[in-house]
Amino acid sequence: MKLGVNIDHIATLRNARGENFPSPVHAAFVVLEAGASNVTCHLREDRRHIRDNDVRIISELTKKLNLEMSADEKIVEIAIDIMPRSVTVVPEKRKELTTEGGLDVAADIKRYKNITEAFKFKSSDSITSAFIEPDLRQTDAAMEAGFDFIEIHTGRYAGETNETGRAKELEKIKRAVEHALKIGLKVNAGHGLDYKNICDMALIDGFEEFNIGFSIVSKAVFDGLESAVKEMLGIIKAAEFAKFQSIKNPNSVIARSVSDEAIYRR
Ligand code: PXP
Repeated sequence: MKLGVNIDHIATLRNARGENFPSPVHAAFVVLEAGASNVTCHLREDRRHIRDNDVRIISELTKKLNLEMSADEKIVEIAIDIMPRSVTVVPEKRKELTTEGGLDVAADIKRYKNITEAFKFKSSDSITSAFIEPDLRQTDAAMEAGFDFIEIHTGRYAGETNETGRAKELEKIKRAVEHALKIGLKVNAGHGLDYKNICDMALIDGFEEFNIGFSIVSKAVFDGLESAVKEMLGIIKAAEFAKFQSIKNPNSVIARSVSDEAIYRR
């Protein structure tokens, strides 16, 4: 399982002072050097963090950009011009703090089909992904719309504090992964994943990649970006190893080494 690191908040920090540092381009190289497979950025319509030029430079220099974007016509046009390695279509509301919920592909399959076809027309190697809830109807719609991947929105699972609710969310995610693989989609996951809850996710079979931003950038404030990325990768690899070795109750073994203290220096 691979790790894509979302570096939007490096740009948030840069923009807070109107400076040209810390540089998202620099961050992109650091996360890739640390072992991430992809760099993820969200070019929002209000350009609150990542800007057009960041996307252009990161895509050109690294060739490993996963661009999150809304289905807005102007944003799609920019993405088709830049042609990052992959694009993930997400819902976007102007006032939200971060992406809220998954895309309703089923509501307008034709609209999303136009987008996936436009990317395939420009390059048959292009990779498109739809950020959706762990929902079988949305998964079928993503397939019908021509997406290569779905990215399962893990926000509801991550935000669930109740054990039973959490187990229910996890079950939904497992079912969505199985269904997606069965109908021919590849599967990523992201949103709200951190150094503790990633264990549950990495123990599920079938994911290609996790896209994680806020928890890694938060840890990087204290420990540095390279170390924060490596630690996340270490947990993912440990979970994969535990699964491979059929270790009983692997979650507790892995999570025990990752205390809240160690993560965010609370
Ligand atoms: N995946 C998608 C589609 C997102 O919109 C985001 C947030 O930008 C993430 C992953 C990363 O979420 P987080 O910052 O909570 O790790």
